[in-house]
Amino acid sequence: MSIRPILKMGDLRLLRRAEQVRKFDTPELHELIADMFETMAAADGAGLAAPQIGINLQLVILGFNQNGRYPDAEAIPETVLINPLITPIGDEVEEAWEGCLSVPGMRGMVPRWAKLRYEAFDQYGNKISQEVDGFHARVVQHECDHLGGILYPMRMRDLMRFGFNDALFPWVDHGQEERG
Ligand code: NI
Repeated sequence: MSIRPILKMGDLRLLRRAEQVRKFDTPELHELIADMFETMAAADGAGLAAPQIGINLQLVILGFNQNGRYPDAEAIPETVLINPLITPIGDEVEEAWEGCLSVPGMRGMVPRWAKLRYEAFDQYGNKISQEVDGFHARVVQHECDHLGGILYPMRMRDLMRFGFNDALFPWVDHGQEERG
């Protein structure tokens, strides 16, 4: 396993439309996913998409017990989503502060569907499907956006609510989250 460098906004590889994964349960895929989990943990991320490490495949991971970058967020089980499809449930939209490992040190107020159903494959090729809401739904939408070449600032409605984390929230200790 190894920690891979995370691409930053401005790198054109983050703007590509990712390709579908065709082969499941291969040593290469398992190694890639292990590297992604290690990379995400090292950066204290809530999720990570393969394009963020320069791999142009429809593959995202998410999950954490306790997250230093989102200390108030409820835990999300470790999940691998391949070739995912998102369907909103209802029309409720929630706005909340969001960051991205590819946009280090910044936060923006981003509207997301409050509730959704995702369909995807896991790394073994099993079909998985789940209804999620709240922060979990937000992370799924954020990561799946990466597969379409979309970074969260492109979803924002008000750029006045976009800034550096330590300037937006000066009362929070940011020692652990310089990179996110
Ligand atoms: Ni991101």
